Amino acid sequence: MWETILIGLLVVVFISWLKSSVRPSNFPPGPVNLPFVGSAMILDVRNLTKSFATLKNKYGDIFSIYVGSTPVVVLNSYQVIKEAFDRHEFSGRPGNFSGTFFQKGRTGISTTEGKHWKVQRDFLENYLDNLTGAGHKAVEEVILDETTDLKSEFSKHEGEPVSVSYKTNISILNVLWNVVCGRKLHSQQQEFQTVYECIDKITQFMSRAAIFSFLPVLTKLLPESITCIERGRYYRNRFHEISEKWIQEHRQDYRGNRTGDLQDAYIQRINQGDDTFSEQGLAAMLREIFIIGAESESVMMRWVFRILSCNPQVQKKIQAELEAVVGPKAQVKWENKDDLPYTMAAIKEIQRYADIAPTGLMHKTMCDVKIGGFTLPEGTLVMANISQCHRDPKLWLKPEQFYPEHFLTQDNTLKSVEELPGFLPYGIGKRACPGAKLADMQIFLVVSNLLQEFSLSMPGEDAGVIATQFKSGTSVLRNPRPYRVVINNRVSS
Ligand code: HEM
Repeated sequence: MWETILIGLLVVVFISWLKSSVRPSNFPPGPVNLPFVGSAMILDVRNLTKSFATLKNKYGDIFSIYVGSTPVVVLNSYQVIKEAFDRHEFSGRPGNFSGTFFQKGRTGISTTEGKHWKVQRDFLENYLDNLTGAGHKAVEEVILDETTDLKSEFSKHEGEPVSVSYKTNISILNVLWNVVCGRKLHSQQQEFQTVYECIDKITQFMSRAAIFSFLPVLTKLLPESITCIERGRYYRNRFHEISEKWIQEHRQDYRGNRTGDLQDAYIQRINQGDDTFSEQGLAAMLREIFIIGAESESVMMRWVFRILSCNPQVQKKIQAELEAVVGPKAQVKWENKDDLPYTMAAIKEIQRYADIAPTGLMHKTMCDVKIGGFTLPEGTLVMANISQCHRDPKLWLKPEQFYPEHFLTQDNTLKSVEELPGFLPYGIGKRACPGAKLADMQIFLVVSNLLQEFSLSMPGEDAGVIATQFKSGTSVLRNPRPYRVVINNRVSS
């Protein structure tokens, strides 16, 4: 009798595996789906985009893989990524484990969809557009102030090999802090230290926990000491308390039509009774700005310092341009950018070459959709192979090299956006990063003002290999391998 039950069970497991391994009808093709592991056996999970290049050669621009038993469609050319992500039907988001754990549910912008997402996203986008558009002077002052502090920190370590991450993170955090709280904190203050620690630990946890979105059973089977959920929960709760405290402080300070910072502007919408605006929504948005925004900018700045220190000839060209256009002493301002094509080209090339978000964030279809002749049922997960665009030999003359001329016309002017298909550091379409302009402004002002005063070089023992660190903390964002940089004052050296 036991034998019959066992055989029956095996047959049920086998049939359900067979069913789950068969792709839906007219679904993009791809490698075989094995029970429990999906396509994991044929994917290099530490370097997904390398595996995708192989699969693209075999299956074309649109193929599918399985993560566990979940199919994921991968888009592999600029044309199909643009076509898909410009459409509302592809603007959904899976309620992934990390995002919903961190926010205690689906709230904020990056994990929500539909009307809530659209209204909240429009608010943030408009707020940041105004901040960085015609009236950009206020935020520019804040960034320049931080850059001055950064320069004086660097002066203290002239000629020594140093790690620049912590110092640059402080200035990134302070700018965001100003945007959302209208004030600056000293990095030694307890509140600053607590937020810094929370961001660091939460991003580490979210990266490690990415797998739980596909294998949630692991969170039940494994002890919390292994899944690190207990630790993640501790830092998440601390960050929730802090973001809620900020709102209470703003509520107390709220005086009629004062619109000093992002929180004031949001509270005004709550007070007007606008649909989808709530204190919980504001707290979620603040946490997102600090987690997604600060971490992305921090990783990008790590690449900026690494790539520049390995390319002294590029620094010299930037410095010559700055000297000719702005002069050796005057502060470089955002309005100077249009007269600094080489500097802008070098920064954009760093963004292309660093390729910090190789697959961006996962999207989800909002209804049954067709693309490239295939049919994707509602709820299908969709991933963009952004690396493919950044390394496409059809789009870039020297895709594997750091070559700022990629962004210059023959007359040495900066190419327009239309001339640069395939340049997607911030994603594209309906879900493209709303913080892009703020991040661009910050990178430009930091790089130009620092290089006016300092040159960056590698320590003697550094062979100058620019490489990626494939470790936890990099499942969404690619970090450079840890390095040190030598800062030399241009006047004294
Ligand atoms: C160098 C800096 C940054 C990079 C490279 C970057 C990159 C990205 C990418 C690739 C996405 C995913 C797009 C998609 O889903 O298709 C994204 C989304 C997002 N980013 Fe950024 N980002 C940066 C800075 C910022 C900043 C400073 C903020 C906030 C002030 C921010 C807020 C967001 C938000 C809220 C989303 C989710 C948008 C949505 O789901 O609609 N990012 N970012």
